Amino acid sequence: MKNLIYFSLLAFITFSLSLGCKDEQSEKVTSNPEVSGLYQEKHRPQFHFTPEAKWMNDPNGMYYYKGKYHLFYQFYPDSTVWGPMHWGHAESKDMINWEHLPIALYPDSLGLIFSGGAVVDLNNTSGFGTKENPPIVATFTHHNMAGEKAKTNDFQTQSIAYSLDEGTEWTKYEQNPVIPNTEKIKDFRDPKVVWHEKSQKWILVLAAYDKVKLYASPNLIDWNFLSDFGIEGDTRLWECPDLFPIKVEGSDEEKWALIVSIQKDAPNGGTATSYFIGDFDGKEFKSDVKDQKWLDWGADNYAFVTWNNIPENDGRILGIGWMSNWQYALIVPTEKWRSAMTLPRELQLVKTELDYSLLSIPAQETQSLRKDSVSLDPFKVEGKHVLEGSFSPSQFEIVMNIDLKETTAQSFGIELKNGLGENLVITFDRAEEKLYVDRTNSSTNKFSEAFFSKKHSAPLSLKDDILKIQLFVDASSLELFLNDGELNFTDIFFPTEKFDTVSLFANDGNLNISDTNMYSLNGIWNIEKK
Ligand code: FRU
Repeated sequence: MKNLIYFSLLAFITFSLSLGCKDEQSEKVTSNPEVSGLYQEKHRPQFHFTPEAKWMNDPNGMYYYKGKYHLFYQFYPDSTVWGPMHWGHAESKDMINWEHLPIALYPDSLGLIFSGGAVVDLNNTSGFGTKENPPIVATFTHHNMAGEKAKTNDFQTQSIAYSLDEGTEWTKYEQNPVIPNTEKIKDFRDPKVVWHEKSQKWILVLAAYDKVKLYASPNLIDWNFLSDFGIEGDTRLWECPDLFPIKVEGSDEEKWALIVSIQKDAPNGGTATSYFIGDFDGKEFKSDVKDQKWLDWGADNYAFVTWNNIPENDGRILGIGWMSNWQYALIVPTEKWRSAMTLPRELQLVKTELDYSLLSIPAQETQSLRKDSVSLDPFKVEGKHVLEGSFSPSQFEIVMNIDLKETTAQSFGIELKNGLGENLVITFDRAEEKLYVDRTNSSTNKFSEAFFSKKHSAPLSLKDDILKIQLFVDASSLELFLNDGELNFTDIFFPTEKFDTVSLFANDGNLNISDTNMYSLNGIWNIEKK
């Protein structure tokens, strides 16, 4: 709640002071082209999406169309802290190399532009375009500051906008909002839409405080309420839901996944993205299990949502998350810009004896980042072993298999450190069956109590013969994918100086590594030769 109060207060203060509220489409600017030394600032990720400058949070309105992945995002072009929300815009042919585009949606008389989705309306059901030139229709929340101030409780409503030029120019629908807030629910936001083949309807899911609400429409304009879905007794705030069909890997069985981001008490504190697997009959979503699972066990993958309109012959479920946490997002020590997105990820559904699980793996396009690679023969580590090669310890990928049968150490792991004694330690503990990520000593600049207060952890079975590790490090973030996405973990960190050493360690015994590939990775912002 503390976060939320802070969030609302900040919103009000920044909005009152801001000149950022513009008439619809009144001005077209990219975020801040004149910033100097762009992308070379301290802590700036080199192969993750970041805005050129200023504040960014959730990914929004993602769709693939005519060979391009579009990414919109919660954006405040006047400050590096959250403020009156716009939709920033970027596009990419591979979800890796991005081109920044002009701001897509500006606040207007109905309010700020909060999170939501977008779909390619291929059959022109909305009538905004033609079948030959289908409209892209964005669904988003209008957040009305005057209403919030007056405590009307109905200040969040759902609106739409459309684009007829693949996403550059947007026209807001004249009769917005399309879903008014008749029940006066204070937190009523983040509408995302999916096409439901069986009922031939669009289905919209939005977060309504501690549950989601589903609506149906034939045309993206007229919406009928269908049902609520929540967990009995759960009073946490839910945000940024996403609902989509997904096939079980290697079979034709189809299930539905409901992703929801949770604003408090995530496994490692604060905010995180979770999911339910179940069935959707065109009216109700029924989860197979009572409690949700975590899409990512780290502290820094929030508001993860998927791309619409991925071609059938591709068939992947692809998404991206905001690499931060509302506990400290506003005060992480970056200048000029704040926050990055995760790497693009593919979600896969697997069926186990007990239930279904969503795996997250890096989208295969991330392999195009690989520049030089070093493969190591099997080797053993006793104590500590510094990994050397042509890669930079602050920008690399390692893919490594640990032979657990031949490993005698009870715990082992990977350490990143710098000459100042700051470090970040990833530990696999066999006795406890846990993964630990310890960033408590990752900087002497203790900018946030919550950020440094405890070691992060996740349950991890270490009983198999092999542990597969894939680790990406990019200046101020790590993304760890274990056993082909069975567990993934995203954490950010801000060392005073770049980490310049990567080492492996084994405690009380040896660590047996059967395969290692280390990659130096390209930057995506053309500041180094590719
Ligand atoms: C999630 C969120 C959304 C909201 C947006 C505002 O991070 O709180 O629920 O629409 O951010 O920027």
